[in-house]
Amino acid sequence: MAAMQNERLQAFVDEVAARTDLLQVVQTYVPLKRKGGRYWGCCPFHQEKTPSFSVEPEKGLFYCFGCHAGGNAFKFLSLMENVSYFEAIKLQAEKLGIELPKRKLTPAEEQRERERKDLLRVNELARDFFHNCLTLTKIGEPGRRYLAGRGITEATIKAFSLGFAPPAWDKLKTAFQKRGVTEKLLLGSGLCLPRREGDGIYDRFRGRMMIPIADERGRVVGFGGRVLDDSVPKYLNTPETILFNKRYLLFGLDRAHHAIAREGYAIIVEGYMDAIAVFGAGIENVVATLGTAFTVEHAKKLMRYARRLIFCYDSDEAGQSATIRALSILQNTGAEVSVLRVPDGKDPDEFIRKNGADAFRALTREALSLVDFRMEYVLAHTRHDTLSGKVQALHQMAPVFQGMGAGAARTEYVKRLASALMLEEDVVRDELRRGSREREAAPERTPLRREIRRSDSALDKAGRVLVRLATSDPGRLSEAETLVPLERVLGIVQLEILSALKKGGSETDIQAALSDEAAAELSRAQVDEGLLAGRSEEAAYQDALRVLKKAYLNQKYMEHSQLAEKYLEAGNPAYRVELQRVEAIKHELEEMESE
Ligand code: GTP
Ligand code: MN
Repeated sequence: MAAMQNERLQAFVDEVAARTDLLQVVQTYVPLKRKGGRYWGCCPFHQEKTPSFSVEPEKGLFYCFGCHAGGNAFKFLSLMENVSYFEAIKLQAEKLGIELPKRKLTPAEEQRERERKDLLRVNELARDFFHNCLTLTKIGEPGRRYLAGRGITEATIKAFSLGFAPPAWDKLKTAFQKRGVTEKLLLGSGLCLPRREGDGIYDRFRGRMMIPIADERGRVVGFGGRVLDDSVPKYLNTPETILFNKRYLLFGLDRAHHAIAREGYAIIVEGYMDAIAVFGAGIENVVATLGTAFTVEHAKKLMRYARRLIFCYDSDEAGQSATIRALSILQNTGAEVSVLRVPDGKDPDEFIRKNGADAFRALTREALSLVDFRMEYVLAHTRHDTLSGKVQALHQMAPVFQGMGAGAARTEYVKRLASALMLEEDVVRDELRRGSREREAAPERTPLRREIRRSDSALDKAGRVLVRLATSDPGRLSEAETLVPLERVLGIVQLEILSALKKGGSETDIQAALSDEAAAELSRAQVDEGLLAGRSEEAAYQDALRVLKKAYLNQKYMEHSQLAEKYLEAGNPAYRVELQRVEAIKHELEEMESE
């Protein structure tokens, strides 16, 4: 049964793929001009004036030489329409008039679907219950007073469907049970809790102002409730349910996403009340995390609408270090990040209340670039009047410089950093360069860093050559693997591609399995004409192998030298063995040079 469904699904995907014309798909969004064997246009995924976005109809691939987006027709649609890969296939099928094979849900799926629907329904009911309580009843009076005191207008109350939970143990429970909502659902939605003693349940949210939290499509998935005074906890949230997952949810995204796409950037704040205040001030492209750290999932969500992200966290120490953490999560994701610091007051909400909406809008135009923010933060957090403090500051700055590339901006920042640290510019330049070489030798592989190495180091190119050749001749890949431990030298994106190629499957399947970064890198490897640089495939392959092997030997060289040094310091005689290894590796490297 399941097998047959899979087959029908596969046949469906194959048919859509076969009848899809990449050129036609792209041209409905991007005007293209033919030049050489391919078509060119201005990339829809980043801003540019001269075309670096290319389409190769024969290969069925697009690739942007500017922002490195790339993939097949479905990847294009999924990026363009902000939908998943499979949704893109369905969209395209619709356009082509191909019918989706109807699939019967398994009993477990049906059950889950029902649960989901029930939860959405009861949450919607609760939103209305709290909202009516706030706006229509006498019980809501303290809530109304509280909101008025915070300067929240009736329009904002309405726009966010803010509410008030009565200060009683069972008002919601009784009202909902009268309407036929089961105890199980009241518990499952987190609106009620089981009594500690005896049977029965009681309301979770009592005497709080209520903020409904919606998913991207505006469906209520949970609530945040704030006390009206100084009692604790200040905020109470819906517990995790199948709908409510703070790693993925961003408060306000349902209202903000049009504005984010229109303005080309999103403002990210720490608290609900900040998002509400900023929105109320007429700046609609604002979202808030739900009292948790900013995650890669959040970044992905936002970047479907815009690449520019402006962080505007609380101005206290906690907010600033949360900013630093968010920035490090965003490194190498392709996001353009800047930071807005509120100069007056604890958070955006307070700032707007003190200084008004216009003042806040003016601030958004003065957001600090990533480098500026990092520089200020590092200078404030190192004792750079001492030598070791200076070195520490330089090391902390190195990653930002590495991401910057050469050019006027870099020169300018080196100058500023040198002057702030009271060092010669040359010293700063050397130190930053050394820092980046050390990192090359021992790249960090934490998944969060999702290191997309967009630089064009010889190593990147060698890996890319391997990717290119592996698509046409998997035998070469197996051979290369026996000669060099690829996982030690290649970045995660290329490794992801190679492992997908090894698994095999149709081109559509492989693209579907890849992350956006990997799909783009695969396209790049296949369409980049400069890659073989006039060499035969065999010659390019041999060159690539040499580069990979050399990188591996260099790594081993470093490792064993460090080990030798450590042993020597500790008086451990094993240092001799290590030194011999170092010599052997050195010898091998020299042989390679002279070949
Ligand atoms: P106001 O005091 O109402 O202005 O809140 P705020 O938005 O300034 O909140 P704050 O900066 O104190 O915290 C930021 C976010 O962290 C809030 O919006 C909540 O999502 C979350 N948060 C704060 N306090 C608590 C708490 O006690 N419990 C939980 N679960 N979350 C909290
Ligand atoms: Mn606040």
